[in-house]
Amino acid sequence: MRYFEDLTPSTGAREPRAWLRSSRPRICLNGRWRFKLRDSAPDGVPEIGPDWGELEVPGHWVLQGHDRPRYTNTAFPFPIDPPYAPDANPTGDHVRSFDLPGDWPADGAVLRFEGVDSCFKVWVNGVEAGTAKGSRLPSEFTVGHLLRPGRNRLAVRVHQWSSGSYLEDQDMWWLPGIFRDVTLLARPLIDDVFVHASYDHVTGAGTLRVDTAPDAVVRVPELGVVAEPGAPVTIGAVEPWSAELPRLYDATVEVPGETVELRIGFRTVRMVDGLFTANGQPLFFRGVNRHEHDERRGRAMTVDAMREDLVLMKQHNVNAVRTAHYPPHPAFLDLCDELGLWVIDECDIETHGFIYTDWRGNPADDPDWAPMMLDRMRRMVERDKNHPSVVIWSLANESHRGRNFGELAAWTRQRDPERALFYERDRTYEFSDFYSLMYPPLEDLEAIGTRTEDVPEETAEHPSLEARRRALPFVLAEYGHAMGNGPGGLADYQRILERYPRLQGGFLWEWIDHGLLLPGATDHVYGGDFGEQLHGMNFCIDGLLFPDRTPSPGLTEYKKVIEPVRFTGPDPLVVHNYRTFTSLDDLTFLWTVEEDGVEVAAGNLTIPPVPPGQSTQVATPSRATAGPPTSEQVLTVRAVLAKDEAWATAGHEVAWAQFVLEQPAVEPAPVAAAVVDRGEDLTLGGGEFDRRTGRLTRLFGQAVDGPVLDLWRAPTDNDNGQGGRNGVTQEWRAAGLDRLLHRVQAVEVMESGLVVRARVAPEGLGVGVRTMYHWTADADALRLTVDVQPEGEWGGTAVTPRCGSWPRVGVRMTLPRELENVQWYGGGPGEAYADSREAARVGRYECTVDELQTPYVVPQENGSRIDIRWAELTDAQGNGLRVTGAPHFQLTARRWTAEDLERARHRSDLTPREHVYLNLDLAQNGLGSASCGPPATSPHTLEVAPYTFTLVFRRAEA
Ligand code: GAL
Repeated sequence: MRYFEDLTPSTGAREPRAWLRSSRPRICLNGRWRFKLRDSAPDGVPEIGPDWGELEVPGHWVLQGHDRPRYTNTAFPFPIDPPYAPDANPTGDHVRSFDLPGDWPADGAVLRFEGVDSCFKVWVNGVEAGTAKGSRLPSEFTVGHLLRPGRNRLAVRVHQWSSGSYLEDQDMWWLPGIFRDVTLLARPLIDDVFVHASYDHVTGAGTLRVDTAPDAVVRVPELGVVAEPGAPVTIGAVEPWSAELPRLYDATVEVPGETVELRIGFRTVRMVDGLFTANGQPLFFRGVNRHEHDERRGRAMTVDAMREDLVLMKQHNVNAVRTAHYPPHPAFLDLCDELGLWVIDECDIETHGFIYTDWRGNPADDPDWAPMMLDRMRRMVERDKNHPSVVIWSLANESHRGRNFGELAAWTRQRDPERALFYERDRTYEFSDFYSLMYPPLEDLEAIGTRTEDVPEETAEHPSLEARRRALPFVLAEYGHAMGNGPGGLADYQRILERYPRLQGGFLWEWIDHGLLLPGATDHVYGGDFGEQLHGMNFCIDGLLFPDRTPSPGLTEYKKVIEPVRFTGPDPLVVHNYRTFTSLDDLTFLWTVEEDGVEVAAGNLTIPPVPPGQSTQVATPSRATAGPPTSEQVLTVRAVLAKDEAWATAGHEVAWAQFVLEQPAVEPAPVAAAVVDRGEDLTLGGGEFDRRTGRLTRLFGQAVDGPVLDLWRAPTDNDNGQGGRNGVTQEWRAAGLDRLLHRVQAVEVMESGLVVRARVAPEGLGVGVRTMYHWTADADALRLTVDVQPEGEWGGTAVTPRCGSWPRVGVRMTLPRELENVQWYGGGPGEAYADSREAARVGRYECTVDELQTPYVVPQENGSRIDIRWAELTDAQGNGLRVTGAPHFQLTARRWTAEDLERARHRSDLTPREHVYLNLDLAQNGLGSASCGPPATSPHTLEVAPYTFTLVFRRAEA
């Protein structure tokens, strides 16, 4: 059997060990390599020929113009024929030379690969040094005997498919190549280091034991520690490490000829009474699942991008990362230690595609595969064991049940009893210290919180396993599917997660969209863009960051929902510290009072010390007004960083809240002006109407069309649900909401104004909406009340399903393209929807129509602003319209129609039209998370029901 298909994890590789910063000489072998791609695995040593090109290492050849990247979700892009690879097995030969300096130590060398996808063989000066599998794990080969003074030649043959691929079916692009660093190291004299640094939260003492070379000396200068390997040293008082206060101590391990530098964090994690604790306190994860992704480099991440990820996480109140679904680049964990994040480090194992054989042949349950799996676990644990940030080892993702996990767990518990284990997909949880699920509905989460969840089938016959499972703490491995516009419902999840101690938080799916920008392209590609038959569409475009790392509205919402400081009020105004370990001393508290969005008073709040988990009451700032309120008065309180931190500068906002202190009296209805009948058209106040259609044609001098009832929106990924199931789009289409026609029944001139009656109904069906537009006016305002009455079989017929919700209820109108400047008073600055609105704060905002758009990789409904009191759309001279709600409305404005948005597959498919399309909504349906999870829940769904809403139009004030 060929080495890339057998079940040997590696040949010639050294024992796994910790990733260390050593003083021994090293040569970085990253850079330009010679490269040749072959469509199947050749024999023999790679020899550079005239048809060879060049390639950047680390990198993926499919992102550098050779072959194409491939995205499938769960399916293997080759037959399920383990352990074999198809004959068509793209194979990249990589060759480079390097010079060994004259002073290179003569006592040997190690060649280290941090990650090669998926299997490779390496030659040094034409002699084979070894082979390895395990894409996201390091491999080292002893090569000193193969080196020569001066020029040396290194050749690496990388096979895209191998037996290892059956263990690497994560939901992400298939990206072959040498995608992490390659280094030549002088043979280490300190081969391995295992730091055990614990913290006693009762006494404040730290204990340090470093297992390493017997003749080494361990030093922690700041603590005055000089210790022998293997001997525990107790330090009377240390500052512990936590994600909130990531205190690290510099240390060295030294033997003659080598110094290894370490950064030590003292912390103790332990299960106590069914809860996962660190330093004596139960932890609560406000987490994200993070894949390694860069829009141009794929998984060949730069350290700058890793730091950017972590800085963004910290700035958005995230305190934990699950390294979905493989160990990250080792530098990432250094940064987690430094910046402060709790980490679930996940092994590079996922056999998801065996779902298509009903799990027949699943490697996880086949003892022949145990060595390959255990090898992966060992390589992760050994590499990452010295990071205080890593508190949990995850055995795998989505690989069903399997006895091999027993072996992985047993080995890990013996090797590292100081951390917890995690595995979500074995429903007995027999090898996991946590109970966990993905994407449960709220009711299920609530049941888990109260330990009243149903007994899983897998433990029904095993009382002791079931008792063990039920006693476990719960962590939500994945939820809130951030695909396209969404997720919705985060605040609802958070409320439940925070209510029950058993629920120790969760990890949102997922950190970043996996959109790839191929050389020369402007649109991000996703599955299906190359005409592949088998692909996972845009299912990997489901991140809180856009592919270029700009935060999406979902991340802004998450930041608000997981704030570590909360305010309740306004009277009494209470500040709550939701942190686990630290007070609020690092924060400054500010307040402002605004009247109709204009600041009228501001100051600092003086807060007494608030220990973690505690609250304090403070005096409510206010500005007294005499007489009945004439404007809306809003108090905003904010907690900002008092000084610079490693991840943000002083003034960075951590938390905020708003309270409406006073509301103005409701605006009286305008005195009716009379309708003037001019034959073809009618005028009323500032409006001119088409006599026949009852539609506005001019409004305060602007050429307009509409407003007409609109119930449709360009479906979001979450509207569509997963694979066409579980979504509302299907229901909406079945009810014809995407093909509504208007029939004007009457245009009636009344004493009270103008009444237009219409029936809005879909082709082919009997359902409809009786709509009445009632216009009244006075000298400067034109007021529209829309009354909406559903009629017909919305509950379904023998051949049509029930339609339980509408995408939106509002009106659509067309404006001149010049009205492109938008100002509003209401929720902002970003988009918001019924179940994703926590981050919208009341204020005055302005931007252009183009800036209102949220650039989802796959175009879909976006950009809606919520709770708008008034909005103006004006041209460059300030002429235009003002719309006022009664009291509020929702607004979207764009240069294309909802239908254009719906048809577009990529952003470049959207071409501006000649108008601005304005939607003024009473409401839209919530977003939900049905692209993988539950749809919008009932308080956020827009039911099929009668509605009435009012809008007032005026000339812009500017
Ligand atoms: C989970 C899986 C993830 C991802 C997600 C949906 O089941 O663990 O890798 O596929 O669903 O995006």
